Amino acid sequence: MTRPAAATSNAPVVIVGAGLAGLTVALQLAEQIPVVVLAKRNLEEGATAWAQGGIVGVLGDDDSIESHVRDTQDAGAGLVDEHAARFIAEHSAQAVEWLVARGVPFSPDPDGPLGLHLTREGGHAVRRIAHAADATGKAIHDVLLETVRAHPNIELRERWMALDLITSRHLKRDEPPQCYGVYALDIDRQRVETLPAAAVVLATGGAGKVYRYTTNPDTATGDGIAMAWRAGCRVGNMEFIQFHPTCLYHPQERSFLITEALRGEGAHLTLPNGTRFMAAHDVRLELAPRDIVARAIDFEMKKHGVDYVLLDATHLGELFLLDHFPTIHARCLALGIDIARQPIPVVPAAHYTCGGVVTDLHGRSDLPGLYAVGETTYTGLHGANRLASNSLLECVVLGRTCAGDILERGATPAPELPAWDESQVEDADEQVVIAHNWDELRLLMWNYVGIVRTTKRLERALHRIKLLKTEIDDYYANFRVNRDLLELRNLVDCAELIVRSALMRHESRGLHYSRDFPQTLPVSFPTVLLRSHRNGKKAKTYGLSG
Ligand code: FAD
Ligand code: SIN
Repeated sequence: MTRPAAATSNAPVVIVGAGLAGLTVALQLAEQIPVVVLAKRNLEEGATAWAQGGIVGVLGDDDSIESHVRDTQDAGAGLVDEHAARFIAEHSAQAVEWLVARGVPFSPDPDGPLGLHLTREGGHAVRRIAHAADATGKAIHDVLLETVRAHPNIELRERWMALDLITSRHLKRDEPPQCYGVYALDIDRQRVETLPAAAVVLATGGAGKVYRYTTNPDTATGDGIAMAWRAGCRVGNMEFIQFHPTCLYHPQERSFLITEALRGEGAHLTLPNGTRFMAAHDVRLELAPRDIVARAIDFEMKKHGVDYVLLDATHLGELFLLDHFPTIHARCLALGIDIARQPIPVVPAAHYTCGGVVTDLHGRSDLPGLYAVGETTYTGLHGANRLASNSLLECVVLGRTCAGDILERGATPAPELPAWDESQVEDADEQVVIAHNWDELRLLMWNYVGIVRTTKRLERALHRIKLLKTEIDDYYANFRVNRDLLELRNLVDCAELIVRSALMRHESRGLHYSRDFPQTLPVSFPTVLLRSHRNGKKAKTYGLSG
C-alpha cells in the first residue's frame, strides 16, 4: 500500500450493505448529505428480502412496552440489555409508521391498530407482528429500494464488495484510532478501489453461511464482523447462533424457511409417524422460543433416527393458508407438497447471528468514524437468543439513530489514503483450494459447533479452523483477491470468533447448549472478545464471559 490514492475532502458516507439496515441509514442521511451504498451482489440479494414473518410493532390495545421488553428478555435468557430492549420497543410503533409512510403494503385489518393485521410468533405473549402476508421482507425491501434508486443524493454501487476498512494504522502516522474509508473490490472490473469516507457504516448482515445448513442467502458471510474485528473493534456474543426450527427439508431446496408464523397460527410439529412431541419439551408447545423448539427437534430426530420432522398445517384450511401464507403454499406446491393437505418436512438450520460488532444505540463502534447497524451488530437487544421479528425492528430503529449521530457529528475531511497494492500478488492458480476449504469449514461448523456442543468438539473445531486460517491467509497474501476468497477469509474469522466465544462460556444458556456444562449459572455476562495488536501485527484474543 504505497501509492497515494486521490483524496477527497468532502468524502461521502459509505454504507456497506443494501439490506434494511443500510437502506434505512441511507434514506435518513440522504435528506441532508450524499451517500454511497455498496452491495456485493445484486441489490435485491440479502436476508431482508427473505424475511417472512414480519416486524414487531407494539401497537395493540392488549400490548405494552413492558410486555415486549419482558418477552425479549425471556427469549434472551438473562443476557438482554434492558436499556436496549426498552429503547427499541419504545420506538417500534414509530418504526412501523415510518415504513407505512414509505408505502410498505402491510397486510391490512380494518379493525387492527393503524389498520394493520398483527400476527403472532413463538415467545410473544400477544399478537404484535406487522406483516405483508408471508413475504414481509420483500415488501419492505422493494419499496425502500425503489425510493433509494430515485434519490439524487444516493449513489448505488452494485457488485462492489468492501474488503477491509482503512484506519489510522494504514496511515502509519502516530494518530488516534479512526476509520477513514474502505477498500472495495469492483467485482465486474476486478479492481480494488480506495473509497475515502466521512464515516463508514457496516450493514452487511449476518454470518449464517458459516454453517452447512442455513436459511440465509449467499450474502451472509459475516463480512462486517470480520472487517471490524480485523480493524480492532470488540465483537460480542458470537456463540449465540440462532437455529430456526423449521427450514424446509427437500433435496432441491436447502434454504427455504417455513415461517414461525405458521406455528403462531396453530400449525403442529409431529414425528414422521404423526405423533406430536413438543409437550415433552415445553408447556408453551410449538410456541416456545426458538432455541427450545430447535433443540427439541434435534433431540427427537436423534432419538428416533429420522432425517426430519413434520409441520402440520392442514387443519388451518386451504383458504386461510392461501390468504396468509401464499409464498410458502406456492413454493411447496412447486416441489410437490400441498401444505393444505400434507404436512411439511422440516429441519432446524442456522438462521440468525445474535452476536457481532459491539455498538451503542447509535450504531457507534469502538473505532471513531465506524458505525454498524443490523444483523452485523451486537447491541444487547438479543441476548442469548433473539425473539422472532425483533431483527427487522432493530434495523429500522437503530438505522435511524445511527444516521442522526452521523449528521450531528458532521463531516471531517479525509486525509490522503494509500492505494491498494497489488504489486506482490499474482492471479490465483487453483480455485479448487478455496472451494474445498469453504466446504470443509461449513461442514465442520455444522458437525462440531451446532445446536448441541461439547468442549472436545469445540477444541477440535478450533484446531481445524487455525489450519484453514493459515492456508487462507497464505492464499490472500500471494494471490489477487476475488469474492470467493474474500468471503472465505471472513467466514473463517467468524468461525474462529464463534468457537472461541463458545469455549469461554462454561454454562448452557439460550442458544448455546454444552453437554459438558448443562447447567445455567445464576449470574452471567455477555462474551466480549477483543484483539490485541503488537506492532500492527495480530496477536492474542482476549475475552470476558459468564
Ligand atoms: P441484509 O438484509 O442481509 O443485507 C446485507 C447487505 O450487505 C446486502 O446488500 C449484501 O449484499 C451486503 N454486503 C454484505 N457484505 C458486503 C460487503 N463485504 N461489501 C458490500 N456489500 C456487502 N427478521 C425479522 O425481524 N422478521 C422476520 O420475519 C425474519 N424472517 C427471516 C427469514 C429468513 C429466511 C431470514 C434469512 C432471516 C429472517 N429474519 C427476520 C432476519 C432478518 O431478515 C435479518 O436479520 C435482517 O434482514 C438483516 O438486515 P441487514 O440489513 O442487517 O442485512
Ligand atoms: C420467521 O418468519 O419464522 C422468521 C422470523 C424471524 O426470524 O424473526
